[in-house]
Amino acid sequence: MKKNITVIPGDGIGPEVTYQAINVLKAIGKRYNHQFKCNYQLMGAAAIHKTGIPLPEETIESCLQSDAVLLGAFGHPKFDNDPFANVRPEQGLFQLRKHLQLFANLRPVITYESLFHLSPLKEKRLKGVDFIIYRELTGGNYFEEKHVNDVGDETSNLCKFHKSEIEYVARLAFEAAQKRRLHLTLVDKVNGLETSGLRRKTVRELAADYPTVIVEYLSMDNAAMQLILDPARFDVILTENLFGDILSDEASVLTGSPGLLASSSIGEENALFQPIHASHVQAAGFNLANPVGAILSIALMMDHFLLHEEADKIREAVNWTLSNGFVTKDIDAMNSYCTSTIGELISEYILNDVQFFNVNNIAAGQMTII
Ligand code: IPM
Ligand code: MN
Repeated sequence: MKKNITVIPGDGIGPEVTYQAINVLKAIGKRYNHQFKCNYQLMGAAAIHKTGIPLPEETIESCLQSDAVLLGAFGHPKFDNDPFANVRPEQGLFQLRKHLQLFANLRPVITYESLFHLSPLKEKRLKGVDFIIYRELTGGNYFEEKHVNDVGDETSNLCKFHKSEIEYVARLAFEAAQKRRLHLTLVDKVNGLETSGLRRKTVRELAADYPTVIVEYLSMDNAAMQLILDPARFDVILTENLFGDILSDEASVLTGSPGLLASSSIGEENALFQPIHASHVQAAGFNLANPVGAILSIALMMDHFLLHEEADKIREAVNWTLSNGFVTKDIDAMNSYCTSTIGELISEYILNDVQFFNVNNIAAGQMTII
């Protein structure tokens, strides 16, 4: 198979985790005989620095012509410290989501038994956690009219959704539930928001087309609590843009770190893959960022290309690495490995399978292969 991929490493730790993800992509290409051609582009603070704008035209063009897009991370404290800055790295991300019409963002969440003892939560709550968040990605507060009055003491962000956007992601979520455990939880705030009213009505209508799926309606505040109290009860969570953003970071605590979670953003024509974590500029360049979210984003990309065996091989390699205690500092501060070691282990596993590893040698900081 031949595929063209636009790669946008972005800011902070983005480039170093993307580098490891690309090595995994190359390993998959080599093992399964595929050609992945990467075209590197700018976005975010890196693009502002070079071109003055967060999303150059050339980047948009490249993404539109690619089979998939791989992103690193975006954002820089320089802009965060100026709350009314006119140009921001994240604008690039929002604009790209709109340009590519990526209506839905999917974030799978699973827990790893080998990491249970490192979690702030009790083990009994972590067992059997396996759900996926379907987040609307092109509507809501982020995208609509913004206003700050002249004196700067009054602001607003319009929250607007179109029924078609709600429907698009809802259908995907119903279809996923059909293939999973037949349970869909709509998270909204219907007692306070008109936008939730339309969403609930739309989902109720659609439910008739998926009679085997049990639909549960949960208020956002309650959902935030249930996600910690009883996360294993969830199968497919469907929610709006901002709620999905918040819930997915909360969900990452269950797995061990935001650095472990991958996402895919999809629309009718385009698909984009990205770890969910932020750019953590302070950690950039120290070789300590967690590359697993970026690497698992490649697995989601393989699934999108219908290369399921390849996707499973990446997940198998990640599982092997985590279950043998090879994790970065965000997961285990006392016993951690570098970004590059974790990435190399996963790539080597894909190329050669596990029998070539000598676990004791790796733990001693020696060669990764016998
Ligand atoms: C995410 C990120 C972005 C978002 C930020 C960087 C704007 O947090 O993809 O989850 O809020 O959508
Ligand atoms: Mn987020």
